[in-house]
Amino acid sequence: MTLKSLKSYFENSLLERYPETEITSLFFMLTEKLLGKRRIDVVLEYNEIVSEIEIVKFKDSIERLKNHEPIQYIIGETEFYGLPFKVNASVLIPRPETEELVSFIHQNIKNKISNSEFRIIDIGTGSGCIAISLAKNLPNAKVFALDVSKEALNVAQLNVELNSVEVEFINANILNWKQDTGIWNLEFVDLKFDIIVSNPPYVKVSEKSLLRPNVLDFEPHLALFVEAEDPLVFYRNISQFAYKTLRTKGQLFFEINEYLGNKMVKLLNDEGFVDIELKQDIFGKDRMIKGVKL
Ligand SMILES: C[S@@+](CC[C@H](N)C(=O)[O-])C[C@H]1O[C@@H](n2cnc3c(N)ncnc32)[C@H](O)[C@@H]1O
Repeated sequence: MTLKSLKSYFENSLLERYPETEITSLFFMLTEKLLGKRRIDVVLEYNEIVSEIEIVKFKDSIERLKNHEPIQYIIGETEFYGLPFKVNASVLIPRPETEELVSFIHQNIKNKISNSEFRIIDIGTGSGCIAISLAKNLPNAKVFALDVSKEALNVAQLNVELNSVEVEFINANILNWKQDTGIWNLEFVDLKFDIIVSNPPYVKVSEKSLLRPNVLDFEPHLALFVEAEDPLVFYRNISQFAYKTLRTKGQLFFEINEYLGNKMVKLLNDEGFVDIELKQDIFGKDRMIKGVKL
């Protein structure tokens, strides 16, 4: 089979499930990963023969795509804030909205960091996308990243190495931060931070059926769902943790669901934060919020 006929085979196999333009871009992502050929190379070498082994790999990817598995898990990587990130089923695939959150933080603090005592912590770091992109762009800051999932932290560690940055990882359950056991008993709790950021889980378990299959069947439920009926449980806990551990004038940043804007303004207000700023994403939806500790 030539590259050209492989492309036709790939397109025909997926036509019922994906729009045509998306199929083309999926094909070129796979040629880059599986054949090491960029789009331009493929087009220039359309008549080259593809080996049987390579065809089997494409067929396997086609089956996975038919099951709605995200392409990022199939190729094992993605891009975030212009940086490469490894991903697998233990971590949420970094979203474009989260890049907007990183940009919001970056713009807010880039001129305020004078030395490595400037501390940032990302709570619920997953792939490490927020912590690592901040560390890369703010080399003078000391960045920490916390997650309850050891598997997620293993992926984040790979991403630290891939991007040549330094991040200190903490394996802990943020909902337990008021307890006097484990990590919360250690020196870490006495650290003071300048920036606390989080994109925590917020989907109620009872809303599972509203998610699309590519998310529900493949992304880690630990990253998506809150067990409690209160979808703000993480926001409330992290705000209280932030109020205790932020320095004076320290800033708290959250990514939020578009429907949580007003509730989040009230929550940050109730928890004592000032200068609260609700910010919309490029689609005009409430997506980020910032509060300052007096
Ligand atoms: C919505 S994902 C965000 C991942 C990443 N920060 C991003 O923006 O792509 C939430 C993360 O919180 C972590 N998490 C869930 N429950 C937690 C808990 N109780 N304590 C700490 N982290 C938790 C999950 O493992 C997951 O990595």
